Amino acid sequence: MSSSAQTNLDTSFENLRIRRVAGLIGGEVQDIKLSASLDDAAIDTLHRALVKYKVLFFRDQSHLDDAAHQAFGARFGDTVAHPTVPSPEGTKLFELDASKGGGRADSWHTDITFLDAFPKISILRGVKIPAYGGDTVWANTVAAYERLPADLKRLADSLWAVHTNDYDYGAERTAGTDSRSAEARLAHHQNVFVSTVYEAEHPVVHVHPVSGEKALLLGHFIKNIVGLSSSESARIFEILQNRVIRLENTVRWQWRKDDVVIWDNRATQHYAINDYGTQERLVRRVTVAGERAVSIDGRHSRTLRRPEQQPQAQSQAKSQQAVREPIASAA
Ligand SMILES: [Fe+2]
Repeated sequence: MSSSAQTNLDTSFENLRIRRVAGLIGGEVQDIKLSASLDDAAIDTLHRALVKYKVLFFRDQSHLDDAAHQAFGARFGDTVAHPTVPSPEGTKLFELDASKGGGRADSWHTDITFLDAFPKISILRGVKIPAYGGDTVWANTVAAYERLPADLKRLADSLWAVHTNDYDYGAERTAGTDSRSAEARLAHHQNVFVSTVYEAEHPVVHVHPVSGEKALLLGHFIKNIVGLSSSESARIFEILQNRVIRLENTVRWQWRKDDVVIWDNRATQHYAINDYGTQERLVRRVTVAGERAVSIDGRHSRTLRRPEQQPQAQSQAKSQQAVREPIASAA
């Protein structure tokens, strides 16, 4: 075996063999059969490896069906259904089916950040994979923060942002698709994804609850940066978001059927590349509940709007709006 073949293998996590896939993010865990019956030590080791690598890849997990996938996910915490998109009957799975309107996640995001307590871990399983195309890319939001110049760090440290599921969906994503599928996607977004509007306010820099690392918390659900107009928000967002998605900061995975990918949703963004045309692509996700994000100065994310708390949320949102209105209306 050549020395270069050895250096990409990390054996520092007890029984795991991890092949580094990219320089700053991503490891492929080899020779493991994922299952709910793994012992506590094995689950703990996987979690520690996940916090280090941010995203872990597993080939050949054909033994996992929907039930076994969900049972495995439940070993990491409470599993949750998507707040607005219905799960397949009798499950809490989130299904991305490219043949249906909402199946193409081709925009950079962290999952479900329109909730104050957004998921900590997502576990995605490849059920139908196209013959070519349809890779997913993940970006390391910790490395993105760490590599900011000191002045930009100070700026980011001070900012908070409003995230909503009612974001500007159509702006970029219908490009390159035929008009009928673009219409179907827009209709799914409006009628299903935004069937109930959620809003949450998060620090732009949050502290990872396990590693203590600081990470940028951005992505496509951001509506505006608190206290700034929409055009000012867009410019600041672009500067910081561009740092997250630098290619050096990413890992790209070419899916095979029966792959499982686990990502730390507290330290990553991801993007599903929409380059597979009309081929079938079906992936299912188990989502593990997380906690509210915590800012560098110890403040927690908060809900601005959600259906169960409508009266209070509306008055909260109104008072927020009042603070921002003079600036926003000047935009
Ligand atoms: Fe996602």
